[in-house]
Amino acid sequence: MAADLKQTFGFEQVDTAERRRRIRDLFDAIAPRYDLMNDLMSFGIHRLWKRRFVRRVLAAARPATDTFVDLAGGTGDIARLLHAGGAQNVVVVDASAAMMRQGRAQPGTPRVLRWVAAEGERLPFADETLDVVTISFGLRNMSDPDAALREIHRVLKPGGRLFCLEFSQPAWWLKPFYDLYSFLVIPRLGAMVAGHPRAYRYLVESIRRFPGQKALTEKIGAAGFDDVSWRNLSFGIAAIHHARKGGAA
Ligand SMILES: C[S@@+](CC[C@H](N)C(=O)[O-])C[C@H]1O[C@@H](n2cnc3c(N)ncnc32)[C@H](O)[C@@H]1O
Repeated sequence: MAADLKQTFGFEQVDTAERRRRIRDLFDAIAPRYDLMNDLMSFGIHRLWKRRFVRRVLAAARPATDTFVDLAGGTGDIARLLHAGGAQNVVVVDASAAMMRQGRAQPGTPRVLRWVAAEGERLPFADETLDVVTISFGLRNMSDPDAALREIHRVLKPGGRLFCLEFSQPAWWLKPFYDLYSFLVIPRLGAMVAGHPRAYRYLVESIRRFPGQKALTEKIGAAGFDDVSWRNLSFGIAAIHHARKGGAA
């Protein structure tokens, strides 16, 4: 599978700027079918995970006054849920203009959401200006997740919070079925529905390579965060990580 990836994208052989460009191009290409593919691939379960994620975020925040940035926010699923839950000040940041265009055009997208084209590794915010950063299925697509975590830490106020929803390590008994489904079914669905089997092979491979629950906890801690914890969803297929920047709440 790794050899296949090298042939299709060459991600391993290029510098981070080129890698970033290729990932952005990939999401630009799949943007029109991204939401439909998510529903099909996960049988709609991603919507339940996202609702649970946002409930957790809002329970720990002050929706009326906090500034929320949904990094790698794509078509805006998390931003819409945050707004529906009472968050007044929500900014979507994503590297792909096409993903955000798709999200803005969705019926029911609140006009008050703001959309900013930028990369997680170089956030266009001053130091210590945000209360909450959320990132849903985005960290593993960053060309340098450690740099993105340090950036998130930089822009959060003291006491600010990071919430990350990401694919993780499923329970051992689930893994063989999950791998079979991921490598056999998802690229075929990607071919039929999105017309991009290679893009979906990359996405599956990126899930496999991404650190599991404990390793991600360590990475978040290494970026400077305190009180890092996680909670599994669907037997560890995904996990919510939560962390706090030290200092006043
Ligand atoms: C799998 S999608 C997740 C979208 C959305 N958050 C969701 O949960 O459905 C990953 C998103 O990350 C964005 N992305 C990839 N690399 C990025 C980077 N370096 N900085 C910001 N966004 C990035 C992509 O454009 C894409 O919209």
